[in-house]
Amino acid sequence: MATAMATLRALPMVPLAPHPTPLDRLRRLEAALGPGCPSLFIKRDDLLSFAMGGNKVRKLQTTLAAARAAGADTLVTCGGLQSNHCRVTAAAGAALGLKVVLVVNGAEQARPTGNALLDRLFGADIRYVASRDARAATMLRVAEELEVQRRRPFLIPLGASTPLGAAGFARGVEEILTAGVSPTAIVHATSSGGTQAGLIAGCALFGVKTRVIGISADESTDALTTIVHRLLSDLAALVGASAAGIGLEQDIEVDDQFVGDGYGIPTPASTEVLELVARTEGIVLDPVYTAKAMAGLIARVRSGSFAPDDRVLFWHTGGQAGLFA
Ligand SMILES: Cc1ncc(COP(=O)(O)O)c(C=O)c1O
Repeated sequence: MATAMATLRALPMVPLAPHPTPLDRLRRLEAALGPGCPSLFIKRDDLLSFAMGGNKVRKLQTTLAAARAAGADTLVTCGGLQSNHCRVTAAAGAALGLKVVLVVNGAEQARPTGNALLDRLFGADIRYVASRDARAATMLRVAEELEVQRRRPFLIPLGASTPLGAAGFARGVEEILTAGVSPTAIVHATSSGGTQAGLIAGCALFGVKTRVIGISADESTDALTTIVHRLLSDLAALVGASAAGIGLEQDIEVDDQFVGDGYGIPTPASTEVLELVARTEGIVLDPVYTAKAMAGLIARVRSGSFAPDDRVLFWHTGGQAGLFA
């Protein structure tokens, strides 16, 4: 296990933002939620100081090291029109002097907003496709097109949710230890699975004994559990960990009860907690991911599913540009 941890720590990274991010107590939110509320903490990856931050910064730091090692001169990735991952990839390409092609499902906006506005600002070449299903094949076509032009493309799958991307996230878990907090549960937004796989693996590798509860922004519990399981197996192979050593023997907890009518569509609960957290703590959540995840956390507090002596850590994965979409 020590070897797997050392391998994880030694993975090359392109440093996009200094770490650690702050880890704070949410005392005013605790008070607003009333007696019986467990201790609440927040990990502020929304404050990662690169291109408006968020979880994608951690995943891209390891992914971009692989792109560099491969001698790539162009990054190709995909996402929705308001993808946070596309925004950070576009910025990273700009910062590293790489061309970036984004394959985006959705219609081009006459007046771009939110992440779509930032994608343009960072100078990405944006290709629009009609549906999510068309993204992967279009990325391959773009790569062929680039090779014909004698460029060296590097394809980054959706959300950088690869074993290497998850490894970048796993490294962040060490920051909990240095902050001296020992959570009994970590709650976060999940969608393409890399963040959850990284958190589970990081907790297992660094010896943080906690549940990791992913609140889905779109996919079903079954689909995401399968994805996280596969990522964990591949990550175990990458760092040389056993199944137990990477956290595969504990339950993968994915909750799809807070998606509501679908991806990006606010629910009454997500709207309520977005305002509650803003008004008690001055912290901005996003409507697509983190407000739904916080709705999942607060619903558990209100239903008494956490004990008063639990220590619940909300891992803020960013996404605030989505508020201006
Ligand atoms: C702000 C935000 N939070 C959470 C997630 C979910 O992370 P993952 O795709 O690694 O599951 C994403 C991306 O999908 C995101 O942009």
